[in-house]
Amino acid sequence: MAVSRTPFIAGNWKMNLDHLQAIAFVQKLAWALADAKHDFADAEVAVFPPFTDLRSVQTLVAADSLPIAYGAQDVSAHDSGAYTGEVSGAFLAHLDCAYVIIGHSERRQYHGESDADVNAKVLAAHRHGLVPVVCVGETAEDLEAHGPSAVPVAQLRAALAGVDGAKGLVVAYEPVWAIGSGQAATPEQAEQVCAALRVLIGELLGEEVAASTRILYGGSVKAANIASFLREPNVDGALVGGASLDIDEFSSIVRFKKHVGA
Ligand code: PGA
Repeated sequence: MAVSRTPFIAGNWKMNLDHLQAIAFVQKLAWALADAKHDFADAEVAVFPPFTDLRSVQTLVAADSLPIAYGAQDVSAHDSGAYTGEVSGAFLAHLDCAYVIIGHSERRQYHGESDADVNAKVLAAHRHGLVPVVCVGETAEDLEAHGPSAVPVAQLRAALAGVDGAKGLVVAYEPVWAIGSGQAATPEQAEQVCAALRVLIGELLGEEVAASTRILYGGSVKAANIASFLREPNVDGALVGGASLDIDEFSSIVRFKKHVGA
């Protein structure tokens, strides 16, 4: 983990917690981290609630000046117009979202999102000043057929077409076989792919952007395994699903430096 990149711990709530539950959760998370004297220079913390929670989270974070960032789990490729059910990046920016997750494997798998859709959404995020958290990752079949890095690298190459690296980028490597399975990748596997992704970012957006871009690992991350991932030089944090819904577990992941001798 290079000194210049602040580790990033992101909680992807998926379709869990309504806006009332979100308020209670974010408040308790902030208390837990304050009680533990968490130093946000050790790890930036962000939550990604459902769209319907964002206004409530914004109000709470602003009212209490909480040091917790937040973002949406998806964004429309379009800015406005006749796109029923879609949410514009402009609306997310008005809710002070800093980030937006794009191309999560559940969007690719259940909603047919293609690499071109992911690219269009990354460009839309940038148009509205949002930092995309671009998700890439291979299925078990991909791994068998193409080896560890080929699919994630190809997905990221497509996602970054025409992208201006100066506008901010976070990448999340999430092997599909590791998501929600309890079967995390090994730190060595994560490092190998994250290193390949960083080389690609250098090729496409320049070495400076590659050196400053945070690349996360995601897939069955928990308090017991987070430190082993963060010890790898090219893994700069985690995108956490299931374990981000448990305050004790998530705050323990955020404080990875304090345990397992990391
Ligand atoms: P998980 O999900 O931590 O529950 O495996 C990760 C993700 O889908 O972002």
